[in-house]
Formats: sequence, structure tokens, C-alpha cells
Amino acid sequence: MESYEQAIKLLKLLFFTELQGTECDQNKMIYNKDIVILGIESSCDDTSASILRNQLMLSNEVAGQAVHKAFGGVVPELASRAHQQNIIPVVDLAIKKAGVSMDEIGAIAFTRGPGLLGSLLVGTSFAKAFALARNIPLIEVNHLQGHVLAHFIKERSTPAEEPKFPFLCLLVSGGNSQIIVVKDHLDMEVIGQTIDDAAGEAFDKCAKVMGLPYPGGPLIDKLAREGNSKAFTFSKPRIPGLDYSFSGLKTSFLYLLRDEIAKEPNFIDNNKADICASLQSTIIEILLSKLKLASEQTGIREITVAGGVSANSGLREALLGTAGKLGWKMYIPPFKFTTDNAAMIAITGYYKYLKGEFASLDAVPFSRIKIG
Ligand code: KG4
Repeated sequence: MESYEQAIKLLKLLFFTELQGTECDQNKMIYNKDIVILGIESSCDDTSASILRNQLMLSNEVAGQAVHKAFGGVVPELASRAHQQNIIPVVDLAIKKAGVSMDEIGAIAFTRGPGLLGSLLVGTSFAKAFALARNIPLIEVNHLQGHVLAHFIKERSTPAEEPKFPFLCLLVSGGNSQIIVVKDHLDMEVIGQTIDDAAGEAFDKCAKVMGLPYPGGPLIDKLAREGNSKAFTFSKPRIPGLDYSFSGLKTSFLYLLRDEIAKEPNFIDNNKADICASLQSTIIEILLSKLKLASEQTGIREITVAGGVSANSGLREALLGTAGKLGWKMYIPPFKFTTDNAAMIAITGYYKYLKGEFASLDAVPFSRIKIG
């Protein structure tokens, strides 16, 4: 982050601007379709700010939090403190990189939930202060909806094709595994979801058992590339319908390691790549089996994937392979939009802005909010 002076300057601008009243002219704003939106994301351990002009992304800054590495997972209190330190410099940088003036920012969108309450509070409070100081509309965003709508962000360099409604979205992150029917930008229905752990949790928890650092998903992905995916077999759930379950897989993974280590103490070190490849291919099989069923049942063949686990190279390959076989039109997001980022919050804010869906200044964050 650039300089302390810049942070102070922005703080002054935010908190010492003469307030022009808390009621901005929202009706007038709805008719102004050309809008610059500042998005804020702070639901977990990434502080992010992004500027969009309509759908076009002008900047997207993300500050990660190394402080959690030593603990093998995100520590909520440390996360909210790091957000407090990061938020002003990150917003400042996003505005500078976008090359817009403060006066051009016509609305601010923030993640209201789901996520860690302390972390969400930082982004929510910042967004409220910004909206109040600048006298612009405040827009609350469901983080999960943000992941889904990341497919609508436009970039100058890569004019990506948008999925057509209705489409299915396989949303796979650290806290969620869902299959969603997306009927319109703001009209979504969850038709399948995990009844216990999420796919990202399965990656992270199994990685932890292997002694790998947090988050384990990317490391398992890397190690799996060198391994044999048929080396070990893990149990797969038999849940009816479109719901997921990953807790049985986690237990069978734990038991296999326990039994093998009893015979060979260096079992993990000697078989790391094969263990990772086998685990990853089982998770992918589970994810794909329900996605195929959802496509069969709904007749929808426009398929998207979103969330942190959608960065997984094996999953991306398997989705493209299945799409080729089943005639799906598959949309895979760029890596930067798979994990938490504020551009996805700003794009959701954009569609809410067009509909005049604004939040009030007494909006409070929620740790759990469902789509739809
Ligand atoms: O969407 P996300 O950034 O955060 C939320 O949960 O909202 O997702 C984080 C999850 C973590 O569980 C992480 O291990 C997983 O995404 N992840 C991956 C990969 N990159 C991130 N899992 C498997 N393979 C990856 N390449």
C-alpha cells in the first residue's frame, strides 16, 4: 500500500467532508445508467476494493492476510483487525488505479454477508461512512450472489462472453457448495447444497490432516498434478437428489491415513502426490455427478462455475471435458475472479443500482444469508 499520507487524506475526505444530509436523490440516480461503482469486500480474510464503470472493471485491489498462516485457518478476530488496517489503503489504491475522481463515484456496494461478522462489520461501516460522506447510494450485496455474477464483469483486455439465462452455477467455495439456477441477474434459486462440509472445507481439512499449510486447496491442486488419481479410493456419499455431502469423504480420508501410517510411518511423505490426486479426483467426481443430474433435471446446458474451488485445475479440466461430451456451453471464470474480490461485489451492485435496490444506513451485516 502506497503511503500513510494518502490513507490520512482519504480518511479526512471520508469523515470530515461537510455532510449534505443522509438522503441522496436515489430516484434521480436510477435514471443515470452510466454509473461508477465502488465495491467493497471484507467477508473473510481478503480486503478488496474495486471500481467498475457499468460492467467494465477499472480496478480490483485485493490485500490478503498472511497473519492466519501460523494458525492453520482464519482467526476471526485477527481478520477483522487486519481489515481495519487494510481497508483505507486498499480503497485509495483502487480509486487511483481506476483513474476516477472521487466525484465520479456514484454508488458504493458492500458485502453484507455471509461471512465472519467482525470482518463484515469493517466493510459495512466503511461503506456506510463513505455513502454518508459522499451523499451517494449504498448497496448491500450477498457475497454468494457476487460469486455467481462475476461472470458478467467486463475487462478491456478480454471481452468475455456472458452466460445466457437461465443458467446453472456450480458455486464451490470454502463455505459453500451449491447448485443454483440463475434465472436473471438478481433472480436465483438454490436447487442443491451441501448438508455438511463444503468442497473447499474438504480440501482444507484433508490438507491439514496431511500437515499441509492453510489454505490446503491450492497445494493439493499443485501436488495432484504429479500424482496417480487411481492410487487410493475414498468413500463417496449416497445422498438422494441434488444435495452434496463431504463429511464421509473426510472421515474415510482420515481412516486411510491412520491405517496406512500404522503400517508405514512415512506413508504421507512417500505418497503425497498420489494421495492428493486421489482425493482431488474424488471431490471432482462428487461435484460433477450432482451437476450432471441438475442439468438433466432442469434441461439447462448453459453451465458456469464460481467460488475459490473453481480455481482448481482438475475441476476446470473435468468441467470442460464433461461439457464437450454432454453439449454444455461452459463458462470458466478467470482465476482472479474465483477467490474473494470486490469486482464481483461491484458488478452485483451495478445490477441492483439499475433496479433501484438500495440499502439504508442502518443495514447490519449477517454471518449467514441465503441466496434468493
Ligand atoms: O471463495 P473463496 O475464496 O472463499 C470463500 O470461502 O468465500 O474460497 C476459498 C476456498 C478455500 O477452501 C481454498 O482452499 C479453495 O477455495 N481453493 C482451492 C483452490 N484455490 C482455492 N481449492 C482447490 N484447488 C484450488 N486451486
